[in-house]
Amino acid sequence: MAQIGYSKKVMEHFMNPRNVGVIENPDGYGQVGNPVCGDLMEIFITVKDDRVDDIKFRTFGCGSAIAVSSMVTEMAKGKTLDEAIKITRKDVAEELGGLPPQKMHCSNLGADALHAAIKDYWVKIGKIKPEEAKPEEESHEGEGESCGT
Ligand code: FES
Repeated sequence: MAQIGYSKKVMEHFMNPRNVGVIENPDGYGQVGNPVCGDLMEIFITVKDDRVDDIKFRTFGCGSAIAVSSMVTEMAKGKTLDEAIKITRKDVAEELGGLPPQKMHCSNLGADALHAAIKDYWVKIGKIKPEEAKPEEESHEGEGESCGT
């Protein structure tokens, strides 16, 4: 199963993903599609005292997307929403010890879905307007290569 190019941490999170599943009636819900491969990611959060109290993910993405999402959920759990929304795609990839270049696009899903879930909650409580919850425009430069799986 081990493949050249994947860090131990990626493999470990892929084999034992944390926080997989669905939260019924979540406080925030984010769903994003990957423009490169067409895969899908969902993140569910509950919020308590302005912190991410519980978080779960469900993905139709590849192994790297699973590892990334598992890591994102671990990084976000317990953080304040203001801290959690600052978790970037790059932070997650770095925390995992890097991803092979052709899989970098997979790391976008986790962070993007987390941000979408937090914004969904903020819209619900009236902190931001729905139009402010639109997905951020991050550059997809250099992410054009799909892994083809
Ligand atoms: Fe689609 Fe990785 S998320 S190939």
